[in-house]
Amino acid sequence: MTRLLGTSAQDIEKAARLLRDGECVAFPTETVYGLGADARNGRAVAGIYAAKGRPSFNPLIIHVPDANSARDYGVWSDEAQLLADAFWPGPLSLVLPLRENSGLSELVTAGLPSVAIRVPAGDLAQGLLRAFEGPVAAPSANPSGRISPTSAQHVFSGLEGKIAAVLDGGACIVGLESTIVGLAGTPTLLRAGGVPREAIEHVLGARLIDPQDGEISAPGQLTSHYAPRAKMRLNAQSWDEGEKTLGFGQMECDLNLSESSDLAEAAANLFGHLHLLDAMNADRIAVAPIPQTGLGVAINDRLSRAAAPR
Ligand code: TXA
Ligand code: MG
Repeated sequence: MTRLLGTSAQDIEKAARLLRDGECVAFPTETVYGLGADARNGRAVAGIYAAKGRPSFNPLIIHVPDANSARDYGVWSDEAQLLADAFWPGPLSLVLPLRENSGLSELVTAGLPSVAIRVPAGDLAQGLLRAFEGPVAAPSANPSGRISPTSAQHVFSGLEGKIAAVLDGGACIVGLESTIVGLAGTPTLLRAGGVPREAIEHVLGARLIDPQDGEISAPGQLTSHYAPRAKMRLNAQSWDEGEKTLGFGQMECDLNLSESSDLAEAAANLFGHLHLLDAMNADRIAVAPIPQTGLGVAINDRLSRAAAPR
């Protein structure tokens, strides 16, 4: 049975105790709900893969309460310091060279010589990490290949009975996963996400490079990911008969990502609206064009994965 826990100190302590016991606990971050387990406990991490039905070659992001704790696991650099100062806690993950004797389970890094680390914002995430006093490995708390959860209800509908507990902190503010920047070599944008590329480039004073074509540096980036059951049509200039429609800006549609064309609001609504359209048993979902600027880049990336043939 999956327990629903709230925001009280006792509930946070209960969740931390479950993590210590090697159980999987879903918790809210500002991006999406994560499915957490003790990153030093291989059996616990295996429980994440089992609950999600996730291909085991995907390395996981570890979550820690602050930059100081991050240094216990990743080899620190000037660039890491600049980005941590500017964006942590917040929706940015850094891939750093893995420190020797990090104590992390090899299942977390999938055997890579690097580790992805993030300091999430939000009282519940921070409270849980501080109560647990250790690194928490956490992918998004959805069955593999399905839409990422931005509410405790989403987590329940995907994973009920498969995990020990869900900490319910309401809806996620950002609604998109973290941006992932690789700092194991030249700073690289591994995944677009909650922090726009330009903001990171501004802080670094340098352009981020894109991963080499064909090189799978963020192997979680399978093309058909975040998929609703329905067929998706993107950049729709008008709606066709029988489609459920996802709008952006002033227009008639079933659901609107942001009537005021606000990309941050659209990002926060994206997965929730896809869940709702899916729940309407749509056969086909049409999506209005989203500008390819700022957070729009990450939104379009998620949409094209959701629309990929499968
Ligand atoms: O916002 C987020 O990042 C959410 C919340 C829960 O924190 N987490 C999340 O985790 O999106 P997940 O497992 O769905 O995505 C992790 C991504 C994958 O694309 C994975 O391949 C990449 O991080 N990754 C992890 N470790 C890596 C490494 N050492 N090198 C390159 N990519 C890595
Ligand atoms: Mg995910």
